[in-house]
Amino acid sequence: MSSSHANSAKSGDLPLPNDEAKAHSLRLVKQLQDQIDSAGGQISFEAYMQSALFMPELGYYRCGTEKFGALGDFITAPEISALFAQSLAQFIKSTGIGSAVLEVGAGTGLMAKGILQALDKQSALPDTYYILELSAELRERQRQTLSLIPNLLDRVKWLDRLPDDFCGVVVANELLDAMPVTRFRLSDEKIFEQQVIFNNGVFEYRYIETAKARLLARVEELKQQTSIGEVSEYLSEINFIAEDWLKSLAGHLSSAVVLLIDYGYPRSAYYHAQRNMGTLMCHFQHRAHPDPLILTGIQDITAFIDFTAMADAALEADMEVRGFATQAHFLLNLGLLDMLDSNKTETTQEDLIEFLKSSGEVKRLTLPGEMGETFKVMALAKNYAGEMSGFEQYDIRHLL
Ligand SMILES: C[S@@+](CC[C@H](N)C(=O)[O-])C[C@H]1O[C@@H](n2cnc3c(N)ncnc32)[C@H](O)[C@@H]1O
Repeated sequence: MSSSHANSAKSGDLPLPNDEAKAHSLRLVKQLQDQIDSAGGQISFEAYMQSALFMPELGYYRCGTEKFGALGDFITAPEISALFAQSLAQFIKSTGIGSAVLEVGAGTGLMAKGILQALDKQSALPDTYYILELSAELRERQRQTLSLIPNLLDRVKWLDRLPDDFCGVVVANELLDAMPVTRFRLSDEKIFEQQVIFNNGVFEYRYIETAKARLLARVEELKQQTSIGEVSEYLSEINFIAEDWLKSLAGHLSSAVVLLIDYGYPRSAYYHAQRNMGTLMCHFQHRAHPDPLILTGIQDITAFIDFTAMADAALEADMEVRGFATQAHFLLNLGLLDMLDSNKTETTQEDLIEFLKSSGEVKRLTLPGEMGETFKVMALAKNYAGEMSGFEQYDIRHLL
């Protein structure tokens, strides 16, 4: 989801949810209140975000509301342009191990559909296109989208868990940013973890000095490696769940390339003294704002990715980092502009209009003020030393 495309809003300026959405949110708030009570009055922010997004039936990603596109809360690259999926198809084809593809967190299924169509055109179809998706509602949505290509549908298989000994290409667009984060505050040399309490009918933050070894060790490491210690108060996030997920994924791969696309920075930019309020962001009806304690269950909550942490997790899990680039450079390396050109015929007015529309989409995917620079692409490999395209002209692994 492109926070850069959403209008920023103060919590007070947000649109009002309708009665159905309010009732939905209230049901989730009640469940969270019980969760907080049974935990003795407070839960970690990570646990709050987990329930707000993924509590069965009620969490934002687990219920039937519209999330993607004009009627939803945000828009992602595959929803902006079919050229995005076409580019990823080029990437998959370039690897030579694309006979199986696994997409994790497939949203509406548009990217899967676009990749399969593009690979079909080039006679490079995978035998199986696996989808691993947590949300039953989104799985159903993906099935509907993919039923529009009935001749390819039998190649798609939905999984309930990571497959064993997977050999092929794994792709995940904006998966990691939806994983719940730990929030910490560094204040007067002390390290606090953010908690959530329920007080007088509203959620509030509370900070407790942490004794968690993993959090303490990471913040100490960040103090050494970055400029977070230069300000007296520093609030930010750490995505331990994404790191653990990546390590667990690595354990399920025999020979594979993993492509992760998300908004984020290398560590020195992520934990910069000037970014002292962190990167957490919420999206409600295309308004971006920083308050995750309101609109519980009916708004998206997301945080940027520390790509250095993902690279470290990959190395620990015996994977190699094979490429790291901005989305713009990655897509241009894969021939995005040629694709635009080859889609253009300009013979009729409709063709010209289509061409202008595609040009606008390319700008959105690649311009620095749009998704081009904030979004990064990281390619990892496990037991795979072969080719892959996308990082030829520009690779910023040295910044990790
Ligand atoms: C922000 S959406 C991105 C969807 C899609 N990739 C796109 O670009 O439009 C995040 C997706 O990841 C899914 N998801 C989140 N955590 C997951 C996990 N641990 N395993 C599988 N899917 C997950 C969500 O249900 C949702 O489909």
